[in-house]
Amino acid sequence: MSQLKPMSHLDNIPSTPGKFKMDKSPYIHRLRWHSSLAKLTFWSFVFLGLILLFFFRSPSSSPLSSDPSRRSLRTYNWGGPTWEKRVRSSARLRSRNGMSVLVTGAAGFVGTHVSTALKRRGDGVLGLDNFNDYYDPSLKRARQALLERTGVFIVEGDINDSTLLSKLFEVVAFTHVMHLAAQAGVRYAMENPGSYVHSNIAGLVSLLEVCKSANPQPAIVWASSSSVYGLNSKVPFSERDRTDQPASLYAATKKAGEEIAHTYNHIYGLSLTGLRFFTVYGPWGRPDMAYFFFTKDILKGKSISIFEAANHGTVARDFTYIDDIVKGCLAALDTSEKSTGSGGKKRGPAQLRVFNLGNTSPVPVSDLVSILERLLKVKAKRRIMKLPRNGDVQFTHANISLAERELGYKPSTDLQTGLKKFVRWYLNYYSGGKKAAG
Ligand SMILES: NC(=O)c1ccc[n+]([C@@H]2O[C@H](COP(=O)([O-])OP(=O)(O)OC[C@H]3O[C@@H](n4cnc5c(N)ncnc54)[C@H](O)[C@@H]3O)[C@@H](O)[C@H]2O)c1
Repeated sequence: MSQLKPMSHLDNIPSTPGKFKMDKSPYIHRLRWHSSLAKLTFWSFVFLGLILLFFFRSPSSSPLSSDPSRRSLRTYNWGGPTWEKRVRSSARLRSRNGMSVLVTGAAGFVGTHVSTALKRRGDGVLGLDNFNDYYDPSLKRARQALLERTGVFIVEGDINDSTLLSKLFEVVAFTHVMHLAAQAGVRYAMENPGSYVHSNIAGLVSLLEVCKSANPQPAIVWASSSSVYGLNSKVPFSERDRTDQPASLYAATKKAGEEIAHTYNHIYGLSLTGLRFFTVYGPWGRPDMAYFFFTKDILKGKSISIFEAANHGTVARDFTYIDDIVKGCLAALDTSEKSTGSGGKKRGPAQLRVFNLGNTSPVPVSDLVSILERLLKVKAKRRIMKLPRNGDVQFTHANISLAERELGYKPSTDLQTGLKKFVRWYLNYYSGGKKAAG
């Protein structure tokens, strides 16, 4: 790092005074002593200055710390009797057998839909989100407003803030955590790797640490990803297939999450269920995903890049409609067993599960564009390009028999029907030039 370079000057000061040749004259000795002291003081200041410079500049100069979520670790306003009352009220059950769920990433795409569904059926729901600016935060604010109307309060904070997390567990004895907060997106990992480590690894550990110490410990359902299948070419992807060849840092952090989940289940008796979502789409979706920015660009008359694999190979995705994903999430919460630990110690074996949640019907990306063209009544300007090696894989296809058997998961929305709902929402949301898609 360039800031550290001048430190090499410090090498000029011998580290062992014994290497100095002793002078016999006391005057010269004193003079030398003074000049050494002055030098030492001078270099101490230089050294101190460098340390300060390093600390002040490092957030923007290191790729591992220049992430938006770091900025979001700023101190949030939380605490106080009014705040606690809102937290309690949002998490209060309205049905007899309901659960009290902390939903992380509640202002996100999936988080908003899951929170709404839980609240509607009478569960207590409290949201947590850091509202980072990975994509247009005004969309997250609009989702927040939507949740407010259904009675869900989103606490603004970061999952790495363990003081806040502990406080939340002190105020509410959550029975479940639906952990959806993460740095999503495959390509952005090359731009901002630190944000993936921050949210998907450090953040997950911070959350699990608080969950393991909570009394009672909650059961946790969390979002992994189909990306863990990476370069696995055996289709459809089954939970038993290898997941040790991630094609992106995003995938690697999700895979790491699955291993971390294993550890916390093994040591502390936390009940943990990982859900491998396959390309989720729908209203209130994510602007960084192809179906979303294709819609935006087609409407603007801009050309869109459609990737093809080597030898004109088709790139296809197992697009899964948000309502099907929500059903899978709720079923995972409903079938999760209690954690077995208490006082931070395991008291018996606990449940550990991983499920694919896909649509089990992959569609070529070019067909997705054709559907959008029909729905938008605009011809797309297609530009066929080679699939870059930046994390995207050629094909995803979920084998969902395990989720079918254990969760009663049965996706029922085809791409045409789901995109119709998305386009209706999109046109309505961005209508009248009031908002411009980010
Ligand atoms: N949408 C998909 O197609 C898809 C596919 C596979 C897996 N997933 C996973 O599902 C989950 C939800 O995805 P999504 O599509 O709703 O993404 P999203 O980006 O819309 O939602 C994630 C939310 O988490 C918040 N967040 C991020 N880091 C945080 C932190 N450190 N502390 C607090 N909040 C933080 C963000 O502000 C955001 O609102 C993620 O874990 C994602 O990796 C999504």
